[in-house]
Amino acid sequence: MRLEEVIDPKQISTNKEDLTNYGQDWTRYYEPNPEAIVFPKNTQEVQALVKWANQESKKIVVSGGRTGLSGGAVAKDGEIVLSLEKLNQIGSINEIDSTIHVEAGVITEDLQNHLRDQGYFFPVDFAARGSSHIGGNIATNAGGIKVLRYGLMRNWVSSLTVVTGKGDVLKLNQSLVKNATGYDLRHLFIGSEGTLGIITEAEIKFTSPPKPQQVLLLGAMDLDAVMNVFKTFQHNLQITAFELFTELAMKYVLKSTGLNRPFSTESPIYLLCEVELESSETEGEILTAFEKCLEEGWLSDGVINQSEQQAKDFWRLREDITESLAFATPYKNDVSVRVSDVPKFMRSIDEVYKKEYPEFEVVWFGHIGDGNLHISILKPENMSMDQFLQKCRKSDESLFSKIQEFGGSISAEHGVGLSKKAYLSFSRSAAEVEAMRAIKRHFDPKLVLNPGKIFDL
Ligand code: FAD
Ligand code: MLT
Ligand code: ZN
Repeated sequence: MRLEEVIDPKQISTNKEDLTNYGQDWTRYYEPNPEAIVFPKNTQEVQALVKWANQESKKIVVSGGRTGLSGGAVAKDGEIVLSLEKLNQIGSINEIDSTIHVEAGVITEDLQNHLRDQGYFFPVDFAARGSSHIGGNIATNAGGIKVLRYGLMRNWVSSLTVVTGKGDVLKLNQSLVKNATGYDLRHLFIGSEGTLGIITEAEIKFTSPPKPQQVLLLGAMDLDAVMNVFKTFQHNLQITAFELFTELAMKYVLKSTGLNRPFSTESPIYLLCEVELESSETEGEILTAFEKCLEEGWLSDGVINQSEQQAKDFWRLREDITESLAFATPYKNDVSVRVSDVPKFMRSIDEVYKKEYPEFEVVWFGHIGDGNLHISILKPENMSMDQFLQKCRKSDESLFSKIQEFGGSISAEHGVGLSKKAYLSFSRSAAEVEAMRAIKRHFDPKLVLNPGKIFDL
């Protein structure tokens, strides 16, 4: 049976531009080469396509907002890309359950704004909010800038409708708060990166918006000082975000955004800390915490936002780092260790980079409050892409051995996809990977979905 007999030909594209655009995500190391792009409009059409792929031994790559950073939505081997773009309806809100029905292709920021306009708050948030899909956020168990206070995407999924790799439609959890009837299969599909099933609809939880917040931009002396500042702020205040970036990151962001430096002193490390003003005393408590950190010599300088605009500008200094580095096709890592291990870990791997790869320009930034560090290695102008990738992949061996030593994760929030697959064993045991393979064989016996992602079978 031909694809055109399964879905309206108007919902199929094979034009060159679509094949390129829908055959990739944000990573730029893979040549997109899909056979066709299909745009189903509902769960039933998704199910028909998956059943067809099983019958015709076709492979499907599931595509959301294509902002992924680990190649999960890349179609490089003639697969059919199934885009959820047309499943973009925000459904009914249930103010008693504090849930809202969405289709998978709803853009993250559209849901944030829709709930904000009704006086509610959806807290999964990060710089790709304007393009990523809720379905992709669920499939990658997205983290972002507010995990410290609100957790990951996993915490906000009340129920799921999924089409499994063998074409079954599963309706998981029915938005129950309590449901002790065996394994919670919802949590298998969250973070499965499109390898077990295609999320088509979800009931998403929401909460009340935080009280007004203050944003501090601080200059820290070193990594031990960062830990002391984190301890001081988190034990005295309700912090919603605690982010780190280095002077090198600051340099690139100022250059690319034209923003002003927040204060005159240059520091090796900058911290962005967001605090909820829980009571009229909180502003005073923030000042006390800030002054203590200055007196102790942990901070060299800092500023508390005096306006909404200044708070936005502080956040741009952190959130625009990725875009500001894109010109240098950075080789990216997204790792995590226990928060208290960050200084030792960062120092040890920075030493390796400086000693073994002196030509690398390494930009560190991330969600330090979660122990999550993003490492972007910028390609030296005089180095070919092949040579650069070869050196970076070699340096990964040192990075991931260090991660293993610290019991950390080789992928904190961006997933494994294609780019971290070779290193999975640094963070997961053979028994764990075998269990994941068994689960994959159950839900996708013909290996239709996202072939070659996370691990090979
Ligand atoms: P895609 O890239 O389209 O797909 C991602 C994976 O999910 C693929 O494996 C795909 O096959 C699968 N998939 C997509 N939709 C579905 C579905 N409906 N059902 C099943 N599988 C599906 N991520 C963070 O966690 N934290 C951050 O702070 C963060 N910041 C970012 C900043 C920038 C500037 C950029 C470009 C990316 C950032 N990301 C971050 C990464 C990315 O935005 C997230 O991983 C996001 O959740 C991906 O959503 P998406 O819809 O773009 O997914
Ligand atoms: C971020 O926190 O900015 C992202 O995860 C993106 C990145 O690593 O580039
Ligand atoms: Zn991040």
